[in-house]
Amino acid sequence: SHRINIAIDGPAGAGKSTVARLVANALQYVYVDTGAMYRAVTAIALERGLSSDNAPEIGRLANELEIELLPGEDGQRVLADGEDVTGRLRSLEVNRNVSAVAAIESVRRKMADLQRRMADAKGVVMDGRDIGTHVLPNAELKVFLTASPRERAERRYKELGDNPGITLDQLKLDIAERDRKDQEREFAPLLQAPDARYLDSTGRSIDEIADQIVEWGRSAV
Ligand code: C5P
Repeated sequence: SHRINIAIDGPAGAGKSTVARLVANALQYVYVDTGAMYRAVTAIALERGLSSDNAPEIGRLANELEIELLPGEDGQRVLADGEDVTGRLRSLEVNRNVSAVAAIESVRRKMADLQRRMADAKGVVMDGRDIGTHVLPNAELKVFLTASPRERAERRYKELGDNPGITLDQLKLDIAERDRKDQEREFAPLLQAPDARYLDSTGRSIDEIADQIVEWGRSAV
């Protein structure tokens, strides 16, 4: 059957990754979490003592680092130079630095290049910030997924588990700051593509949202 590419963009905590995974399962497509790639570069940079505003060094790191995405039992695994770094991608430290790293143009060029190659054979559900506008402007289906700031913060808070290490209010501020940086960056900012379908998941179940996208995907074929 004819396979398409599906781009899902939107702000932090909108439910993109859960939804994208469900859609990929339903269509037997490959799920690509592009945020995890920027997180991997950020985690390694911080571990090597690089400051997130050190564009030349981080650009060099991103260009040398081999990043691979593998399907795993409970979601996508990320390998950096062959090492599984999946468990190190969601720390507060990475959350607070990833938008600065993702604003570095050479980092974005490298990641976009990898992402386009992953989508070459079609049949990919890719979630991120600039997939519909920049990485895959010809994706057959584009969705801009959002939710109220409150609901987005509450979702992320739950993901942090029993020892969140942060208050809900502080998390809300962190998310707003990350969104602002993602929207205001010079190169490939967070933006709804003109031909993207807008979906607000506030008060709606993740399954309902995924079903909607699957239906659009099937009629886009
Ligand atoms: O999706 P997630 O919240 O894991 O993304 C983490 C960060 O990675 C975002 O806040 C953004 O700075 C960056 N990102 C990006 N472009 C993408 C995906 C993520 O700039 N396509």
